Amino acid sequence: MIFRWSVTTTNGRVLVVGGHGAVGSVVTAALDRWFPRRVLTAGRSRGVRMDVTDPDGFRRTLDGLDDIAAVVLCVQPPDAGPARACLERGIHLVDVNAQPALLAEVSRLDGAAAAAGATAVLSVGIAPGLTNLLARRAHDVVGGAERLELTVLLGAGERHGADAVRWTVEALATPPGAARPRRVALPGHGRRRAHPFPFSDQHTLPETLGVPEVTTRLCLDSRALTRVLFALRPATRRPGLRRALAAALRHTHLGGDPFAVRADAWRGDRHAAFALTGRTQSRISGLVAAHTARRALDGRLPAGVHHIEQVPVLADLPECLAPEGVTLHTLPEDRARDRA
Ligand SMILES: NC(=O)c1ccc[n+]([C@@H]2O[C@H](COP(=O)([O-])OP(=O)(O)OC[C@H]3O[C@@H](n4cnc5c(N)ncnc54)[C@H](OP(=O)(O)O)[C@@H]3O)[C@@H](O)[C@H]2O)c1
Repeated sequence: MIFRWSVTTTNGRVLVVGGHGAVGSVVTAALDRWFPRRVLTAGRSRGVRMDVTDPDGFRRTLDGLDDIAAVVLCVQPPDAGPARACLERGIHLVDVNAQPALLAEVSRLDGAAAAAGATAVLSVGIAPGLTNLLARRAHDVVGGAERLELTVLLGAGERHGADAVRWTVEALATPPGAARPRRVALPGHGRRRAHPFPFSDQHTLPETLGVPEVTTRLCLDSRALTRVLFALRPATRRPGLRRALAAALRHTHLGGDPFAVRADAWRGDRHAAFALTGRTQSRISGLVAAHTARRALDGRLPAGVHHIEQVPVLADLPECLAPEGVTLHTLPEDRARDRA
């Protein structure tokens, strides 16, 4: 891939949309430490008033703000309108969204972003995000994977943000396809039954890495809640049940706040696997976004639209998170996983 380097000024300010949410507040705090007095927050009710569902209003508000060099989008918009507004103005974009169709739509803005000298980084967070980076490592170790399997464990006791819970419940209602649940060993959590789940990484990695078969699975730290959640899956096609489940997940905190992600790659008889473990997915997702925005503001990212694993200078993010209690594990193949 040939990179054209961004030319946008890096002295400007950064706008964190959804900057008071579970992810956005972490992004705001980290960027404020690195770029004092250069960080603005936005949302419908606090900070700069912006609504991502109102494209004209979003553009008008952006045009009314001086010297915005980067936007970190910490809420899921209905379409690529906010991304287009930023990139056409030469404003860098860091997007934590996890919705495959929306990511595909934003990817199509590559030409507009490159022409304006702006960078967009997509698949930023834990899943997608750290899963993509681990997948890339394992893929490289085996010399180009033929198959990738990703596993995500989330803490059922964490106070996940409303927007993230809404995304999870909607994703649960998506038919799981042909992939089967699997037992997978996760460092510190033993062997867990994880269920196919429509994280966006498995939709974008076939294109960015050229791997034909990618599956992502989910489990919770609480084995009991994992069983209940996936037993309810067929019933989540009913909107009423989705609303009730979202309310229950927001107010029930059974379990702790750990997370773990694991990526396995196979090519013939070659295998490689890496995992990351830590606490509080919202905090670590926010820190991944903040480090990405920092490098955009430092002028270190190529112009155009990229997923996180396509940008070489972001490959060391797992190591950057070590001071935040995130541990990188190199793992042997879990040959017993389906027999357990
Ligand atoms: N990639 C990953 O691993 C990862 C991990 C976690 C979360 N996420 C994604 O990150 C997003 C945020 O999650 P979260 O847990 O931080 O949710 P959250 O706590 O509910 O925060 C959402 C924020 O967005 C604002 N907001 C909501 N609707 C808005 C709108 N229409 N226009 C402008 N601002 C709006 C809210 O403030 P107001 O109510 O004041 O507007 C709030 O500050 C979700 O889309 C989630 O899927 C990704």
